[in-house]
Amino acid sequence: MIKLVRLRTPAEVGLRAAQIVAETVERRPQAVLALPTGNTPRGMYKELGRLHDQGLDFSGVTTFMLDEYIGVAKDNRYSFTRYLDEHFYTKVNVSPARRHGFDSLCADPEAECRRYDRAIAEAGGFDLAILGIGSNGHVAFNEPGEFFSLASHTQRLADDTIYRNSGRLTREEQGSDSEAGLATEFPTNAMTVGMGAVLNARSLLMLATGEAKSGAIAEMMNGRVTTRLPASLLQIHDDCSVLADPAAAGDSGNASAEKQDSYD
Ligand code: GLP
Repeated sequence: MIKLVRLRTPAEVGLRAAQIVAETVERRPQAVLALPTGNTPRGMYKELGRLHDQGLDFSGVTTFMLDEYIGVAKDNRYSFTRYLDEHFYTKVNVSPARRHGFDSLCADPEAECRRYDRAIAEAGGFDLAILGIGSNGHVAFNEPGEFFSLASHTQRLADDTIYRNSGRLTREEQGSDSEAGLATEFPTNAMTVGMGAVLNARSLLMLATGEAKSGAIAEMMNGRVTTRLPASLLQIHDDCSVLADPAAAGDSGNASAEKQDSYD
């Protein structure tokens, strides 16, 4: 069953997520973490940097990025490798030898996915997988479809994902590129951990903020389990929490008193 934790603001989602990660690392200094990218976890990473400055030690921790675009150099603005360096690895002390990522520029992405699964298995699987959710219900880059793959795999991105992810940076961050330039430059294929590694994680923690996620969250919580909404598969996990702000939880601006009371 999925536990929905309602929080009052996106900032609280980030702070609570960081707290949970910190508790995991304190309890288990050798923890294996799966790490998300995107806008949603930025606050969590910022807080983890702050907690590290106050003594939280990541030196024994092993990390795995959840997914990466194919064919994107590290200096590309869309690179998830770059994102994790910028938001996390430069702020904490995860040993470089224990940071795992897909090599975006590898010659053979299928072989790269097999290598990645071997590394996950050698690490003993994830203790805590921190996840985001696409507004189409994707988890990492496991997109909706007829089937899902347990193993890490290459994935052609859904049109909705391309549309949303290509526009996720601010105009300032996009520099002088025109809209057209961005669209043609945007990668359309990715490598992702499969649902097997996600579902095998000891604990799952999903972060969701903003109204664009509310439909997927509602379906994930209340709908049937279907490959058409990969996040719905999390229903079969026995330790899965979702931290959501009111917009993602589907509570309108004037949430009922009962809903207000249910905020954490
Ligand atoms: C990308 C990532 C997902 C992430 C999603 C949400 O598609 N592959 O792992 O969950 O973005 O991103 P955001 O937090 O920016 O909404």
